[in-house]
Amino acid sequence: MTHVRLISDTHNCHQTFHGTDNDRRLDTMTALLTEAEAAEPSQGTLVLGDVSLDHWGWNEGGSRLWNPPVSRTAEFMKRWFPALPQPAYITAGNHEQYGAAEWQQITGQPREQAVVLGELLFILCDAFRGDLDPTENSDGTYLPMDCCWIRRQLDAYPGLPVILCAHYFDFTLETDAFASLVKEEPRILALAAGHTHLSGIIPAGDTGKVILQTGNFSYSGMKDPKESYRGWRELWWDGEKLTSWYAVSDGNGVRNGETFTVEAHTQDHYEAIFPRL
Ligand SMILES: [Fe+2]
Repeated sequence: MTHVRLISDTHNCHQTFHGTDNDRRLDTMTALLTEAEAAEPSQGTLVLGDVSLDHWGWNEGGSRLWNPPVSRTAEFMKRWFPALPQPAYITAGNHEQYGAAEWQQITGQPREQAVVLGELLFILCDAFRGDLDPTENSDGTYLPMDCCWIRRQLDAYPGLPVILCAHYFDFTLETDAFASLVKEEPRILALAAGHTHLSGIIPAGDTGKVILQTGNFSYSGMKDPKESYRGWRELWWDGEKLTSWYAVSDGNGVRNGETFTVEAHTQDHYEAIFPRL
């Protein structure tokens, strides 16, 4: 059985979300994942971007363009990334607009990569790879997926079923070639992405496949924050069946001056049987 955990949108930064101090929030995240790993060991952890707010188009701007510059991505990699169940792999979000060289230097990993965990191939695509190394604050530039690069990863790891991952898949900006690839390639079981901070399972455009959203460990943009509270996505593959749910952590939060309480639970369950590849 292949078992992997996916997290995203942890947003290590100067802000306090839902009333929880930044360091305590991220310490809680690694403690809960360590606990989950002890109870049920996995083949590894994937981090689908927005570990920071280093590049940001609003208010005081991203900390990477402050004077002096601050890289909360570098801090995350030193302090919290090693505390995640290993091996762990990371791809950049729209708030990490580091060019390939600096990203590699900070994280020790490329901005896009393919990794095998158990019996699954995870292709981690670089969605916000436009306008990197910016000198002005922005929320990043999405570029359509590089289908040639994805096909090269498929060819390099023949036979393995695939979860296609990115910080975000925007089917309103995607090419027909990418939609066809997702629709017609039987090895692609599902997509996984963060960015929205939502934990639900949504259609991947008109491809007939789904995007497993990876929620957040920062804040929810939902009217009711409990609908997509801090947590991570669990994913299992037994060779025929893909199973996934979002594991919600417990805690007290504040939204618009009102306190709310969340009990630990699971939500957004997904189960699909695939023909033998
Ligand atoms: Fe994002």
